[in-house]
Amino acid sequence: MSDSGGVDAAHFRRVFGHLPTGVTVVTAFGVEEPVGMAANSVTSVSLEPPLLLLCPARASTTWPSLRERGRFCVNVLAHDHEGLSRRFAASGIDRFAGVPWHRRQAGPALDGAVAWIDCEIDAEHAAGDHTVVIARVLDLGVSGAYRPLVFFGGRYGTFAPAEGDGAA
Ligand SMILES: Cc1cc2nc3c(=O)[nH]c(=O)nc-3n(C[C@H](O)[C@H](O)[C@H](O)COP(=O)(O)O)c2cc1C
Repeated sequence: MSDSGGVDAAHFRRVFGHLPTGVTVVTAFGVEEPVGMAANSVTSVSLEPPLLLLCPARASTTWPSLRERGRFCVNVLAHDHEGLSRRFAASGIDRFAGVPWHRRQAGPALDGAVAWIDCEIDAEHAAGDHTVVIARVLDLGVSGAYRPLVFFGGRYGTFAPAEGDGAA
């Protein structure tokens, strides 16, 4: 039975589509091969200790393989990574085929990503049709690429500083 409390699902999606987000690909070393999925539900949570959160759907078939090793790497996609975002959300393909990556301690780091964050699962909380995963950050860094991929209204774009804003 639905527990929507009268909130229409399409309306919910449309309104939250107005909250711009970055796009990440969460990766791990699966038992046999690398695994990964696109996710925009990543947020920093705490500095002491350093924690982030990620919300995988309960229906996700990739999350069980990602969590198996207890560690994953969050790759923040760059402005020219729209294809990677689509690829890591697609079903029935080898998502890593032809995708250049290098090893980090918690999972594959995608070449050209804006930033990477290695982490270890700390806790999981059931939250409706998703799970809130809290993970401890082990190590993190930024690459030379600076322009991120931005998701807004179901479309992809990038960030442009406001006019007159000289700060980075
Ligand atoms: C921009 C973008 C953001 C996404 N964010 C999430 C997310 O935060 N959590 C999630 O479970 N799925 C998210 N997805 C969908 C998953 O990437 C995709 O549904 C999933 O990988 C489907 O395959 P699976 O059954 O292999 O998990 C997102 C997809 C896109 C394109």
